[in-house]
Order: sequence, then structure tokens, then C-alpha cells
Amino acid sequence: MTRTILITGASDGIGLECASQLAAAGEHLVLIGRSPTKLEAAVQRLHHESPDAQVESFVCDFAELAQVRALAAELLARYERIDVLVNNAGTVHDKRQLTVDGHEATFAVNHLAGFLLTELLLERIVASGSARIVNTASVGHYRGTMNFDDLGFERGYQIMRAYSRSKLANVLYTRNLAARLAGTGVTVNSLHPGAVATNIWAGAPAIARPLLNLAKRFVMISPAEGGAALAYLATSDEVAGQTGGYYEKNRLKQPSDLALDEAVGRRLVAASRALVGTD
Ligand SMILES: NC(=O)c1ccc[n+]([C@@H]2O[C@H](COP(=O)([O-])OP(=O)(O)OC[C@H]3O[C@@H](n4cnc5c(N)ncnc54)[C@H](OP(=O)(O)O)[C@@H]3O)[C@@H](O)[C@H]2O)c1
Repeated sequence: MTRTILITGASDGIGLECASQLAAAGEHLVLIGRSPTKLEAAVQRLHHESPDAQVESFVCDFAELAQVRALAAELLARYERIDVLVNNAGTVHDKRQLTVDGHEATFAVNHLAGFLLTELLLERIVASGSARIVNTASVGHYRGTMNFDDLGFERGYQIMRAYSRSKLANVLYTRNLAARLAGTGVTVNSLHPGAVATNIWAGAPAIARPLLNLAKRFVMISPAEGGAALAYLATSDEVAGQTGGYYEKNRLKQPSDLALDEAVGRRLVAASRALVGTD
């Protein structure tokens, strides 16, 4: 049976490569991205590579929660089934920025938007049977901290601190949601896709870019390899029924102590609900 697979951050990098591989495997792809031009190019690429590909696309800027709500409404109206949701959109910001909703932009795009989208689609996902939710986290979560009095780093903002917190939130939410969905047949997993040579670090400080460019050439894996790690969790039979896990190189790995703390996970979900307005 063809699965309907939603991928956020599908206009570039790991998400686009994952989409390309899954389209070639005959899956029905729904690409979500913020740039209409890049999304159109992605759809064309998938059709070019796989002429029979079933691909649709939706524009949504995750830096605005009203757009995420509108997207969820469109998706619910359009798709009777959602077999896989891949929450992959991600970004970094050298300088602290606020979204139109007033949230620190890294946390908002990397965690809050995916959190809201997932919660709004959850009933449909559960109704779809043995569905999967995959959250692109990062090895960066090991360095992540949580301060519920200052989630948006009004004090002490630094690019990697903000990124690591957002990625810790991805792992915490994965585990919390997996526990909530126990017995429904829906699995929820997170992963580190590897250090991948994508454009995400274009937002890094200028001083770090020469080193990053060297790493991209000589150390990092290709976007296609990173995309394959995402596709593995999204569709491989090897991980069918596995839930609540954090994966690196297609293997289960123990996440950070903080990521394993269920009380912190519950607190994050409560705080996220309050911030996105679903409580
Ligand atoms: N690259 C790595 O080494 C690495 C390692 C660990 C984890 N990750 C994670 O992998 C995921 C994908 O990143 P990538 O490396 O593939 O980077 P990328 O090539 O920059 O792709 C990021 C994707 O997210 C989208 N995005 C960014 N901001 C958005 C917003 N405001 N609204 C909607 N979509 C937005 C981008 O859209 P545009 O095309 O419009 O920019 C793009 O499609 C991220 O969650 C990242 O944290 C990456």
C-alpha cells in the first residue's frame, strides 16, 4: 500500500533527499517548505527522477504559528490518511531573533512549530493505524539545557545553546509523545542524521564559516546519506513497532540524561502548549 508521507523542511538538505528516495520507492509525498520557488524546484526534481511520483507541496513559514495552524487545516481537509509525519524543518540563528509570535526563533521553528503541527494532526495520524512520527533531532541535544523561566534565552543567548535546547526539546517531545501514544500503533522516534553537508550552517557566525566549509568538504556526510537515515525511520520494516527511541546511524542510542527525564518532558509539553495556545 502506498503511504502518505508528510515531510517538513522538504525544500532542501536532508528533507529533500529523503523525499527523493521515498518518491523513488513509490511512496506518496507531501513536501512542506517556506519558499514557493524552492518547493516548486523540489517537486520538479522528484518528477524528473521518478516520473510516476505522487508529490504535492504546501508553503508554510514555521516562524509564524498562524501559518502552521492554516497548514494543518489544509492538510486535514486534503488527506484522509497520514501514514508518516517527518518533522524535519530546522534552522540556526547567529543573533537572537524573535518570531512574529514573540518566541525565540530557533526554539519556535525547530520545536514549537513541529509540536503544534503534530498536535493538530494527531487524531488523523492515530486514525490512520500503524502510522509513524519521525523527529529530526541532533547529537547537539547532548549539550542542551532547559530553563523553563527563560526558554527563549533572554539572557545568555548563543547560537549553539539555542540550537542544542531546541534539539533537546525534539528528543524530549518524542519520548513524551511515544508514551502518550502507547497502544495506538503509532510510533514516534527521533534521530541524529549525522553531520551533514547542508546549508543549515549558512546562518553560523562568519568566523566559523571557513572551518565549516572545510568540514563540509572533508568530514561531513552527503545530504543523500542524511536523507537515508530519515527515510529509514520513516519506512523501514526493521523499525516497525519501535517507539520512543533516539537513533544515530540507524541504531538506537541512549540520549542525554536530561532527555530521559520524564518530568522535564511533561514540563516541556505543558510549556509548549501554553506557548502555542493549545492548552
Ligand atoms: N546538517 C546537519 O549536520 C544536521 C545535523 C543534525 C541535525 N540536523 C537537522 O536536520 C534538519 C534538516 O536540516 P538540514 O541540515 O537539511 O538543513 P537545510 O538544508 O538548511 O534544510 C532545512 C530545511 O528546513 C526549512 N526551514 C528552515 N526555516 C524554516 C521556516 N522558518 N519555516 C519552514 N521551513 C523552514 C528549510 O527551508 P528553506 O529551503 O526555505 O531554507 C529547509 O527545507 C534540521 O532539523 C537540522 O537541525 C542537521
